[in-house]
Amino acid sequence: MGMGEEGKQRRTQLGGSLPVPNVQSLAASCTSPSTVPDRYLRPDLDGHVVVHGDAEQLPVIDLAVLLGEGRPSSRDEAAKLRSACEDWGFFQLVNHGVGEEAVESMKAAMEGFFSQPLEEKMGSSEQRAGSIEGYGQAFVVSDEQKLDWGDMLFFYAQPPDLKNTRLWPSHPPTFRSALEKYSMEVKKVALSLLRQLGGELGLEAEELTGLFQEGVQGVRMNYYPHHTGRLLGISPHSDAVGLTLLLQVNPVQGLQIRRAGRWIPVCPMPGALVVNVGDVLQILSNGQYKSIEHRVIINAEKERLSIAAFHSPNLDCLIGPLPELVKEGEQRYNTLRSEDYARLVISSKLDGKNLLDSMKVRA
Ligand code: OGA
Ligand code: NI
Repeated sequence: MGMGEEGKQRRTQLGGSLPVPNVQSLAASCTSPSTVPDRYLRPDLDGHVVVHGDAEQLPVIDLAVLLGEGRPSSRDEAAKLRSACEDWGFFQLVNHGVGEEAVESMKAAMEGFFSQPLEEKMGSSEQRAGSIEGYGQAFVVSDEQKLDWGDMLFFYAQPPDLKNTRLWPSHPPTFRSALEKYSMEVKKVALSLLRQLGGELGLEAEELTGLFQEGVQGVRMNYYPHHTGRLLGISPHSDAVGLTLLLQVNPVQGLQIRRAGRWIPVCPMPGALVVNVGDVLQILSNGQYKSIEHRVIINAEKERLSIAAFHSPNLDCLIGPLPELVKEGEQRYNTLRSEDYARLVISSKLDGKNLLDSMKVRA
């Protein structure tokens, strides 16, 4: 089923970002905090206690154990996965099976792109009006909002129909093949996890994965320049997708998740992927799996690079609680067509509203 050029445009031109300065070059020219424009400063950044402690470490799930069909250890791992998604909304995934070569070439391709001079990056991949694909910033929707201290490179990588490969950078020359390969391998992992998560909800085999099989995958490469100012790489948010798989590209931490009113730093184990439940999975599961707020802080000495792969359902499916999971009168969220959901995502950004709140069924 092809959607044609027009369909692709309709699906990918969902609104772009107001133009704002490139942060990498701003960082180079504003070395002291006093020269950073006010729009980036977050005076109340330390308003909440940040906790470092072993007791507050993310659950770790081993995919190889999880997939060890029928074994008791696999059932235990599945129970752990379920409780991670119900209680934390976040976990680390080890033995995920994404090949080391796919990971290393993706990292090298991203580093190769970002290390080019600004003109090269802009020249090969600048974001176009009305779209978030390309090199630029995440949705900036008003002149008043605080700005994030980071640049990004974003592309739709799945389904094949949605892919605008000609927007993908041709430098470094390995970029396109690295992204193709990484995208496919990560998608496989996302589907494995969704299969298990569906099973844990008591759904028929493939019911949940069926929604994502031909689904949308967007890949966001984040570059956060180092700085000593009170800045945020990404403002607090939850992901408006099904499932996010994040790779920390260099050993610089910055991701924090909100748990019981405090910010908890995520310290990924070498080689692990950080996985989180997005709003769509919370909605599909009628609130059983939780989409948790997170943010990124800025390191004083070294830039941070990460790659988030976002997985959303097929374009023709409905976003709403799965009927089997709704007991009499307990439907927590409204059901929308995926296109209307996409529109809601954009308009909630415009209003600064919480998306999940606006989809809640009112008594
Ligand atoms: C995101 C995100 C976290 C990170 O891209 O949505 O939350 O560590 N990224 O870069
Ligand atoms: Ni996020």
